[in-house]
Amino acid sequence: MAQPPTTHDQQPEALGPRSRSEFERAKRITPGGSMRLASYFTPHPPFVARGSGAWVTDLDGRRIFDCANNFFSLIHGHAFAPVMRALHEVLDEGTAFGIPTVHEIELASEIRSRSPQLEQVRFVNSGTEAVMFAVKAARGITGRHAIAKFEGAYHGAYDPVEISLDPTPQTWGEAAPASVGYARGSPPSLLSDTLILPFDDPAMCRRLLQENADRLAAVVLDPLASRAGMVPAHQWMLEAVTDCCRKFGILLVLDEVISYRLGYHGGHDIFGLEPDLVALAKIVGGGLPIGAIAGPAHHMSVFNHTKGKPAVAHGGTFSANPLSMVAGLMALRAYDETAVTRLNEMGRQLRERINEQFVRRGLPAQVTGAGSLFRLHLTRRPISGYRSCFPSPSQKQALAAIHFSLLERGFLLTPNCSGALSTPMSEHEVEAAGAALVQAASDFYAKNGWSDRTS
Ligand SMILES: Cc1ncc(COP(=O)(O)O)c(C=O)c1O
Repeated sequence: MAQPPTTHDQQPEALGPRSRSEFERAKRITPGGSMRLASYFTPHPPFVARGSGAWVTDLDGRRIFDCANNFFSLIHGHAFAPVMRALHEVLDEGTAFGIPTVHEIELASEIRSRSPQLEQVRFVNSGTEAVMFAVKAARGITGRHAIAKFEGAYHGAYDPVEISLDPTPQTWGEAAPASVGYARGSPPSLLSDTLILPFDDPAMCRRLLQENADRLAAVVLDPLASRAGMVPAHQWMLEAVTDCCRKFGILLVLDEVISYRLGYHGGHDIFGLEPDLVALAKIVGGGLPIGAIAGPAHHMSVFNHTKGKPAVAHGGTFSANPLSMVAGLMALRAYDETAVTRLNEMGRQLRERINEQFVRRGLPAQVTGAGSLFRLHLTRRPISGYRSCFPSPSQKQALAAIHFSLLERGFLLTPNCSGALSTPMSEHEVEAAGAALVQAASDFYAKNGWSDRTS
């Protein structure tokens, strides 16, 4: 297996001439030269030519160890052989049909066999859609219209769950978290219909949920919210939420778009939760577009269309397309209990080693995360939620510099310096990625120093 690049000069520069010229071409055809906000960083990302296992190769021939894994969706890295074989097989049969294929039953059954409480499943094409339909289902089931979500938590691009995605100290409110608009021009009613909860204050959560119980259809919760610090939700927080949900008839919608990978039986099992509905995406598509809403049959019946118009109408031209179905099935089958345990243990060791090094070197930095996920923060302060990891302007600049310096060293993280392991990664490669991260942070601080503002 190929080894991580060890020095800069074994490789072409981080942004070679072909990536540079393609970026110029892209700028003319799409705003900002990138089709996705999340995959852009300054000066610009390299353009990828192909990927294999844990590695991608850019247009200039530079090899990069990929810890971003298309925003944590590629549990087996790139071009995973069982997925590619299955795709080749079904490709010749056609790519999408207006009537069902057996592949959708098989993927749904695989999800149910891993998590028996997810008795029924509906497929969509993204995590955004999965969360959207789960929220609509909660409204349809309860007859209530408002939802609650946690400050800073990302659940995709459905308007109500974008509220308070990026509040600042100037807007986030003092006594209780304010509902802060995200997209300019979004309707003011969204603000009043989305209650914002603090991730690290169960007493306040209880109070807010009780006060708003009559109008709340759902609490949307990601138990490992990446943008709220990527710290696992505390047991006392989960108890506060589940207690209130049960007491006030509010549905618990668990966003497992990322956290499904944490356990063979899914994120809800790891956190000991019994959600009313679950939103899935990312790894369950095996590298192809997917989303899924899943839950007990009595809740999922809200989508049942056999007795006239259902309470919640759900469709989608490409929902349950056979390519995503077979890719997801192959990916999940290969992500068995052994693979889950191995990846989680590698993640644990990675976070532990990095944090030890930060302490040993006296650097104001730490990584958070769980299972095979990690995120870098440039502070020693304990991270407990969105506000505790809100970066100052200088921390933001520092994170961007460390991210780019890692790319120069041949390692790709997401632009906010988080990452996810994939099964083709070896222990040696993961260790090298951790060492590179520590070195990139050390070099940054050695060159720029740090102050109270950055730590
Ligand atoms: C927790 C969470 N929910 C929902 C989404 C939206 O998923 P998608 O990008 O597939 O629409 C994401 C995407 O990163 C996510 O991280």
